[in-house]
Amino acid sequence: MTTRTAHAVHLTARPSGFPTPDGFARVSFPVPEPAPGTALVENLLLSVDPYHRGLMDGGEGGFDLHAPLEGRSVGRVLASRDPGLAEGDLVFHRSGWRTHALVTRGVDGTRPLPAHEGVPLEAYLSILGGTGLTAYAALTRTAALREGEDLFVSAAAGGVGTATGHIARLLGARRIIGSAGSAEKVRRLTGALGFDAAFDYHDGPVGEQLAQAAPDGIDVYVDNVGGDHLEGAIDSLREFGRIAWVGAISTYNADRAPAAPRNLFEVVHKSLRVEGVLVRHHTNLQEELEEFLVPHLRSGAVGTDTTVVQGFEHTVDAFLGMLRGENLGKMLVRLTD
Ligand SMILES: NC(=O)c1ccc[n+]([C@@H]2O[C@H](COP(=O)([O-])OP(=O)(O)OC[C@H]3O[C@@H](n4cnc5c(N)ncnc54)[C@H](OP(=O)(O)O)[C@@H]3O)[C@@H](O)[C@H]2O)c1
Repeated sequence: MTTRTAHAVHLTARPSGFPTPDGFARVSFPVPEPAPGTALVENLLLSVDPYHRGLMDGGEGGFDLHAPLEGRSVGRVLASRDPGLAEGDLVFHRSGWRTHALVTRGVDGTRPLPAHEGVPLEAYLSILGGTGLTAYAALTRTAALREGEDLFVSAAAGGVGTATGHIARLLGARRIIGSAGSAEKVRRLTGALGFDAAFDYHDGPVGEQLAQAAPDGIDVYVDNVGGDHLEGAIDSLREFGRIAWVGAISTYNADRAPAAPRNLFEVVHKSLRVEGVLVRHHTNLQEELEEFLVPHLRSGAVGTDTTVVQGFEHTVDAFLGMLRGENLGKMLVRLTD
């Protein structure tokens, strides 16, 4: 086994602003032998995520230079000396950005995948993974969306955004409005994804476009973008509206803090509630998420919205493409044919 070669992506330089491919290197090493208590996993699917960008800046908990990056992954056990994992098991773990890894059940969330018949593997890194869990926690806990309420979500055609649309519809939302970065994404949102209205945030001020799409206002905003999106949503929220603040991707590659929102005091005037959502504070909802969604995934009522880039050698391209908005649904990398 050790004669075979594994590959990993290392960060070789800290990005300044938007990352570039020359800050990464593909490094080869022998496929490791499992030590007692570990299992050797061959990765099948990798997740590339916006939060990886923040970790590339280093600091506490950030990525080290010249070491494999971390990321959610699904792999198959090739050999095991961990009594909790058997050869052939499909496992979720966090040793992504590499072709092979040694993992231990229960460490860092490593677990065998549940056997949900009829559910594609991609679902476990998208709508049934951290992405879907974020949307589910934002809607059912943070915003506590009620039947008949109107919702706006930004980065609506991405992983968290599409999951938010599906889950909100199942929870009985009335109007679902999304923003995205291209006309094609807007068409997809109001077409196959069933949004009631959508707009391209490049086409004019977000606040104005949202006011047109939701002339009577909104009850809940799931914020993936921050900045002027957050400002526009504050203007459109009705009294006692809620903001589930999930992310601020418009700021991740920026070299200065955003000017918006300039209307934060409206939070007081309208008795709004703004609350952050961090998925690792909601891992207790994983089973509930699966019970809620699996029947709809099986029936086809809810899709596994993903953009899958083929080949480990394109992992960095997939990551940069996701930051540029090249994905519809969750961006993943498939390692095998
Ligand atoms: N708090 C948590 O625990 C948690 C967990 C998961 C994700 N998140 C956050 O949720 C958000 C979405 O994450 P995701 O994994 O689902 O990624 P994603 O939405 O699938 O991909 C990122 C998307 O962001 C959009 N984008 C990039 N730059 C932008 C900008 N300047 N302004 C507006 N949109 C921009 C792009 O779509 P367009 O073509 O529409 O621009 C891109 O497709 C991110 O902010 C992420 O950090 C938070």
